[in-house]
Amino acid sequence: MSKIEQTLSIIKPDAVERNLIENIKSIFIKNDLIIKQDKKIHITKEEAAEFYKIHQSKPFYDGLCSYLSSGPIVVMVLEGKNAVSSNRKLMGATDPKNAEEDTIRKLYGVSIDKNSVHGSDSIENAKKEINFFFKN
Ligand code: CMP
Repeated sequence: MSKIEQTLSIIKPDAVERNLIENIKSIFIKNDLIIKQDKKIHITKEEAAEFYKIHQSKPFYDGLCSYLSSGPIVVMVLEGKNAVSSNRKLMGATDPKNAEEDTIRKLYGVSIDKNSVHGSDSIENAKKEINFFFKN
């Protein structure tokens, strides 16, 4: 069963810095995910802490928030059939060294922190994350 869904994707500072925005967008487009909205922004550490608050008890939380606010990022709403799982498949495993061939993190990720992209992990979180960056 396939459903049209929306999900949130973030191109993280390491990938923006290496001019990978168009390479990453083209992977989504080639795989039938439409970029419905996108913007390049630079968020504060406080905003990153709010966005990632689901991870607040984790030992990597402070570094994660510092990192996401360390430079410009691109936030996007992706839409397509099974967009949440489709995007996660295209991204690959969180740690680039465990990511499958031809996934974004295998191609471009540098480390578990500098893993180039974020994607919502469920439809429920996608709604929250889209609303976080694209309040209408
Ligand atoms: P992301 O999908 O953006 O969600 C949370 C991020 O935390 C994750 O990608 C990683 O970049 C980062 N992170 C850092 N250390 C870890 C870890 N040990 N396990 C999972 N995520 C980690």
